[in-house]
Amino acid sequence: MKESTTWERTFVMIKPDGVKRALVGTILSRFERAGLTLVGMKLVSVDKEKAETHYEGHRGKAFFDPLVRLLTSGPVVALAFEGAHAISVVRKIVGATEPKEAAPGSIRGDFCHMSYPRSKERLGVIPNLIHASDSPESAEWELNLWFSDSEYVDPYERSDSDFM
Ligand code: RTP
Ligand code: MG
Repeated sequence: MKESTTWERTFVMIKPDGVKRALVGTILSRFERAGLTLVGMKLVSVDKEKAETHYEGHRGKAFFDPLVRLLTSGPVVALAFEGAHAISVVRKIVGATEPKEAAPGSIRGDFCHMSYPRSKERLGVIPNLIHASDSPESAEWELNLWFSDSEYVDPYERSDSDFM
């Protein structure tokens, strides 16, 4: 990765609800148009153990088992993006956890409107299309969980990198 105090790599996952709703291309374009550099991408099926490990921090919460069921209910797209302040910029593009309250213009705000009360009547967990690392520590841990070194492309620059 680049030597820079601002440059970061972060982990993003389009969850099964996003894949099943055929929003992969639309979601990818949100990050591309914001200037992030795609450095890793794969479509994968997730087993129970991997799903539990990924969301380990939520173990014991009422929505943990439904969350694991949701994550294993179909394929996911695992993504690695780089950019200046990529971790917080990606979280901004993704939007708030509860889609009903997520800002318009964010992915969760534009493509879903699930609320906490409604999710209790449906899946028992909030389906919100996408996951993104929330800190430098979680980005490093999640990238290591989902990608091996050989799965990243050789470094390249976007043609518009001077402006990003
Ligand atoms: P993520 O980790 O997936 O990027 O989501 P997040 O940071 O915005 O939210 P987090 O608190 O980490 O929750 C992880 C995922 O669990 C589901 N969730 N459901 N009360 C609920 O029903 C509930 N709370 C959380 C969501 O799918 C959320 O993205
Ligand atoms: Mg989270």
